[in-house]
Amino acid sequence: MNHIKNYIQENKDRFITELIDLLKIPSISADKAYSNDVVKTAEEVKKRLIEAGAENVEVCATAGHPIVYADKIIDTNLPTVLVYGHYDVQPADPIDLWDSPPFEPVIKKTALHPDGAIFARGACDDKGQMYMHVKAFELMMKTNTLPCNVKFMIEGEEEVGSENLGTFVKQNKAKLKADVIVISDTGIIANDVPSITTGLRGLSYLEVEVTGPNRDLHSGLYGGAVANPINTLAKMIASLTDENNHITIPGFYDKVEELSATERAEMAKAPISDETYIKSLDINAVQGEKGYSSLERVSIRPTLDVNGIWGGYIGEGAKTVLPSKAFAKISMRLVPHQISDEITELFTKHFENIAPKSVKVKVTPHHGGTPYVTPIDFNGYVAAKKAMEETFGKSPIPVRSGGSIPIVALFEQELGLKSVLMGFGLDSDAIHSPNEHYGIFNYLKGIETIPLFFKYFAELK
Ligand code: BES
Ligand code: MN
Ligand code: MN
Repeated sequence: MNHIKNYIQENKDRFITELIDLLKIPSISADKAYSNDVVKTAEEVKKRLIEAGAENVEVCATAGHPIVYADKIIDTNLPTVLVYGHYDVQPADPIDLWDSPPFEPVIKKTALHPDGAIFARGACDDKGQMYMHVKAFELMMKTNTLPCNVKFMIEGEEEVGSENLGTFVKQNKAKLKADVIVISDTGIIANDVPSITTGLRGLSYLEVEVTGPNRDLHSGLYGGAVANPINTLAKMIASLTDENNHITIPGFYDKVEELSATERAEMAKAPISDETYIKSLDINAVQGEKGYSSLERVSIRPTLDVNGIWGGYIGEGAKTVLPSKAFAKISMRLVPHQISDEITELFTKHFENIAPKSVKVKVTPHHGGTPYVTPIDFNGYVAAKKAMEETFGKSPIPVRSGGSIPIVALFEQELGLKSVLMGFGLDSDAIHSPNEHYGIFNYLKGIETIPLFFKYFAELK
């Protein structure tokens, strides 16, 4: 498709500059201090959609951060693609570990990105990937090649659980009527190994509090006779997995879908080995549930991880103290057909059961999410596959991802729509970490592939 390549060639510098400008606004959804920047980003996305040729562009207020809606209906008899993405980003901390400030984007070359990558919070997750859709839409509008209707729904709370988007979707079913949802918020295996995500894990996220004595104590006067909540919490957490790295919560695996040997053999063809992890992460060995490969452990198996743990004295020097309380944030990634609320309940009961008499425990659920899988024979997937075959010159491999986008299951439930997870990031792009980046190659490849997805979807529908 020459018009696509030509348009990108002529406009790529502007595409990059525009993304860089968007990345300068710190739209951190988790931190109230950035609320104004979140709204500013929504307004900016609105402006860019109008410039690209969208209609009915609005910033929809919610109980939390706003949702940007836009559409371009060319013919009601034609199919409609609903684009979902998020303009909010994760907090930038630990800020000291960034080589350049997170909201002052810079382009640098890396081994995996010889054409350069944009380093900034949100570069890959998800501003860069979301903005590919705005630019691909501009391309289709300016070259008169938009083959079907399009709607945009870009939210500002994905990184904090998408609660208000859920309400928005339930209240705006007619407005969001479409034939398929397309999302670029996942990745490919490598720049020369294209893949399409066919599954997302669900999530159960909670916080635990362990209380020992009613006040901090002198660890000499009381230590040894009174339970130390940090020691106790550490033991309790350690007992949540056994020597095979199997999760010990009773009932935890009851609903886990077991894949057939054929499916597992199919998965094993993906060029991802233990070595991939060992080399890129500077570890001596991988670790995980016995009986499964690393790729299986991060996709088709559920997990339990401590995301943060604190309590007692962590200031400079030493303070002898037996603290009153200890805390941890724990997440469990879920697979089909585990149910987030059920897992949260199983965890809570178990955690209360294993607590020794000497402490009190409190479990507070945060957000959850339902796992999601797509078939590989529906028209949305087939269109994405054909588009990627054309732009990468290779057939994409279907892979289940370990990450979560909880709202995707709700889209299916409320709108009856399947989502095509056509992302272009790399696992090594450091999303949620310091030095997040997004390859220029990936950004432009996305802008090139999306119009073809539209074309093939409109043809197949
Ligand atoms: N885009 C990610 C999820 C993702 C990344 C899926 C790469 C597959 C491949 C998304 O923004 C994200 O970070 N989701 C959170 C869940 C959310 C409830 C905070 C996650 O997976 O931790
Ligand atoms: Mn994301
Ligand atoms: Mn994210």
